[in-house]
Amino acid sequence: MACPVFSSKNTSGGEKGPSSPDEEGQEDPLTYHSYLQLDRILDSQDMNCKPTVHDEHLFIVTHQAYELWFQQILYETDSITDMLSSKHWDEKNFLRIISRLNRMVTILKLCCNQFGVLETMTPRDFVDFRNALGTASGFQSYQFRLIEIRFGIDESKRVEHKGKSVLELEAFRADDEKVKFQKAQSKPSLHQRVDDWLSIAAETYDFWNRFKNEAPEPLRTTFEELFNEERYKESLRSGNRRFTCQAMQGALMISLYCDEPRFHVPFQLLQSLMDLDCQFMQFRYLHKDMVQRMIGSKMGSGGSSGYRYLQAACNDKLKVFNDLLNLSTHLVSRADTPPLSFDMESLSSRGGCAGK
Ligand code: HEM
Repeated sequence: MACPVFSSKNTSGGEKGPSSPDEEGQEDPLTYHSYLQLDRILDSQDMNCKPTVHDEHLFIVTHQAYELWFQQILYETDSITDMLSSKHWDEKNFLRIISRLNRMVTILKLCCNQFGVLETMTPRDFVDFRNALGTASGFQSYQFRLIEIRFGIDESKRVEHKGKSVLELEAFRADDEKVKFQKAQSKPSLHQRVDDWLSIAAETYDFWNRFKNEAPEPLRTTFEELFNEERYKESLRSGNRRFTCQAMQGALMISLYCDEPRFHVPFQLLQSLMDLDCQFMQFRYLHKDMVQRMIGSKMGSGGSSGYRYLQAACNDKLKVFNDLLNLSTHLVSRADTPPLSFDMESLSSRGGCAGK
């Protein structure tokens, strides 16, 4: 499509969506305004404070910009979980998956930097219109909750609000929100998809059996502890691990043998997943710090303890890929890593590093 800004007719600003036919059945040429539906977007900044307080406009625009980015993150997440489903597995998709993960990381970095724009408003400026927010709060951002769900945070680790999950907030009681949450929870999360992929990768390469046979005794014992089914189940029960035993094996295999050309792309994928997790946590940290500067220890407008609640949510337990982030605990030097003589040529391309 040609750039709408420079299209011949750029005068439209009407309600019509892209190319809606007029009475004579002629299609209006798209313009920058109609294509982006700017009338709707630019007419959605109703300031609540009377008399008007200058900085409320910034507050509204900033939050709206965040919600648009949240929408894009959800869009990318759904496309990635689809591509990682075993039905569609194709190694050709792996670079695309990585580039979309990196896109989400970049968006989250932007979201983190965007707090700086809001911080040009002083806490005093904020006090001037805070009452106008009533009980409205980012707490009630259903898109933020959908991101958490679709990434696959451990629901049992959520910080509770008044003894309940935040998904039970009054603001989410509308049928619409409930249905959205149920739908999001009924689909496999990013965490689940990655677990499936890694499990199949470990199985395909028969990793653990090869490793046991080829590793020197002390190394074998170290790893046996990690992969002893009974002990592993105990770690799962106690919440120290979330990946299945097989998925852990797959992740370890890719990390230990990342120099194998066959594992370059899967290794990058694991790196991008960790970047995503860390950047999402970074958002929580920066938001929490900003909130402390803005409202100190006052209660949140959404009814929580405010800073204390947000501080509790800055917790490793809310990281989705903690198992990947902890993987380095089990890394050994290249010199100590036994050669596994993978028969790379015999493996077809289906499934990235997995699938025979
Ligand atoms: C002056 C600026 C801000 C203040 C004072 C503030 C304050 C708070 C407080 C106190 C909470 C805890 C819930 C409650 O309201 O009781 C909260 C939650 C939240 N806020 Fe903000 N916020 C600000 C800006 C933002 C911005 C720009 C975003 C971007 C979308 C945002 C997103 C969120 C989210 C997603 C939560 C839920 C966090 C969680 O449950 O882990 N906030 N905010």
